[in-house]
Amino acid sequence: MVSRRGFMAGLAGAAMLPRVLGGSRAWAAAPSAPLVLNAAETTLTLPGCQRPTTLWTYGDAWPAEIRLKRGEMAHLLLRNQLKDHTAIHWHGLRVPHAMDGVPYVTQDPVKHGEEFMYSFAPPDPGTFFFHPHCNTVEALGRGLAGALIVEDPREDGLFDLDRTLVVKDWRVAGDGSYLSFMTDRGAARAGTFGTRRSVNGATAPVITAPPGARVRLRLLNVDTSRIMTLGAAGAPVSIVATDGNACPPFTLDGWRLGPAMRADLALVMPVRPGSRVEIRDTWGQEPFPLAVLVAEGSPRTADRRALALPKAELPRPDLKTAEFFTLSLQAGVSDPALDSWLKENRFGDDALCRAERLFWAINNKAWPAMDMDKRPPPLAELTPGRSYVAEIANHTQHPHPIHLHGHTFQVLSSSRGPVRAHWADTVLVAPDERVRIAFVAGQPGDWMLHCHIIEHQETGMMGYIRVG
Ligand code: C2O
Ligand code: CU
Repeated sequence: MVSRRGFMAGLAGAAMLPRVLGGSRAWAAAPSAPLVLNAAETTLTLPGCQRPTTLWTYGDAWPAEIRLKRGEMAHLLLRNQLKDHTAIHWHGLRVPHAMDGVPYVTQDPVKHGEEFMYSFAPPDPGTFFFHPHCNTVEALGRGLAGALIVEDPREDGLFDLDRTLVVKDWRVAGDGSYLSFMTDRGAARAGTFGTRRSVNGATAPVITAPPGARVRLRLLNVDTSRIMTLGAAGAPVSIVATDGNACPPFTLDGWRLGPAMRADLALVMPVRPGSRVEIRDTWGQEPFPLAVLVAEGSPRTADRRALALPKAELPRPDLKTAEFFTLSLQAGVSDPALDSWLKENRFGDDALCRAERLFWAINNKAWPAMDMDKRPPPLAELTPGRSYVAEIANHTQHPHPIHLHGHTFQVLSSSRGPVRAHWADTVLVAPDERVRIAFVAGQPGDWMLHCHIIEHQETGMMGYIRVG
């Protein structure tokens, strides 16, 4: 793994050559220039709509995709051309605290017309994403999220084809206009669902690949409410990385992908030309296609290498010495003082990270407004470098994808039965379930911990752990 010292030395280095792909358009940054991410509007006609919708994106197309190199210093310049203030959180990346992109906690909000430079060397390879962290229901509702791929030379040549699939629903009417992003009904239950589903902003892509080709699909669930159950037909498909982190391959059938979770899929194309492989979400009554692969072209010669990624190199928690703490996810916790404060406060134009309702809590505390005056104490106070086991106990009627910033944790066990041990930054906890995760406390700072059903996050299911 990259030691802390190596990481800091990396920060002092300068070389970088990131690439940005915005949909089909691609541009490259000059070696020493920062990669510019324009937070701006763009238009796209979404599936089932007669007219285009105005989306928020990074760059000029949707979805944006950035590729960085593991361990190489990257400079990413956020330029805010939106009317709202914003910031960028690098979801799943173990970046220095000052680069974590949480307005009021790690940086000031970046106002309209302003810029902010993010500089870090991504320590781990994998499939990540980036998004703002304030007024997130609306910002993500309008599409403000991009895919972030961290490449590792150890993976060169492992796959013939590497495709990114960004899954997101949109709350739009047939004429392309938005419906309300948030509803009390949704916020207090499983979230407010979109009306149009999409993969990369369209219907499931049809991807052609040579018979026998080794294919990698990077699947990102950037929706704010939807949970998917993965399935495949036409060929065995395995998961080779969870939330970007390599794992021993296992079949994707039945794997659940909640909001903000990612899965890297791997398969070998069937040898018979014209054969089809379909990747789908089988959660609903009707399976929803996520991608269709068609075998076409001259066949690849058989490759005997295992269809797997090089082992993840992450700080491994020591379970024998780990300290234990609990995180109770709760519904309907009432805090009359906070409630009336939320109702009575007249927020100014700049107060984007404010909520008006309180439906959820963690350990009896809620932080619905991101207001520093109303900030609860940390959910836990940890020592850098020490190992911890946290039990996340869901005392509510709904599943919650719980995300911890700045750390990659091991999912150890569940009260519901055996789990596949894997690395993650977001873990889905079912009603009445207790899930144990383990990690090594990382860099000093306050790291957000919240549900990634964004309406839950903004109505109380958010807190932070303090390392330092
Ligand atoms: Cu993906 Cu706190 O977020
Ligand atoms: Cu939740």
